[in-house]
Amino acid sequence: MYKNIEEFNSKIKSVLITEEEIKAKIAEAAKEIDSWYDGTPILLVSILKGAFVFMADICRAVTVPCEIGFMCAQSYYSGTQSSGIVNITMDLEQDITNYHVVIVEDIIDTGRTLNDVVKLLKARGPKSLRIVTLLDKPARRVVELKADVTLFTIPDKFIIGYGLDCGEYFRNLPYIAEFKEEKN
Ligand code: IMP
Ligand code: MG
Repeated sequence: MYKNIEEFNSKIKSVLITEEEIKAKIAEAAKEIDSWYDGTPILLVSILKGAFVFMADICRAVTVPCEIGFMCAQSYYSGTQSSGIVNITMDLEQDITNYHVVIVEDIIDTGRTLNDVVKLLKARGPKSLRIVTLLDKPARRVVELKADVTLFTIPDKFIIGYGLDCGEYFRNLPYIAEFKEEKN
């Protein structure tokens, strides 16, 4: 918990990606999504909570008819290996066999959670499945996983804003910033 607004603001080290840059990339990504489906309806799925801001913007930028779905997922790991077991605390309402699914993700870091979600959704037999991620931190990847569209590739820094949090704060920043870590 932050003592005051000054302490809170001091955690925002520097702006990494501005609102304008995000907006421009979203317009490009939405055009690409539209081009894949040629007007065929799709289901946009995002994993809460991090991707909720990105979802809100990308769903308003695509022009193909789309439904929106949310999931809450937690993965279990032994060491650095993903177990492939993913605990779904909130699931989609839709039976996805009739859908072209597009996963809308905030960030691919180690790749473990998304990898497990992809396996789970593929096992349900959707018509197709693609991944769109706002951010990619390839330096930290543990599980091989590539998105179909990545808006920004970033260095190995802890970032906040535009849906991403540190201790549940900063999700509402309209830009993406580097978090100021404590020096020990
Ligand atoms: P992973 O790919 O399974 O390691 O998990 C990715 C999840 O970790 C993301 O969906 C975020 O919620 C969180 N995450 C990873 N890197 C960051 C970061 O730099 N800032 C905030 N959350 C992050
Ligand atoms: Mg996430």
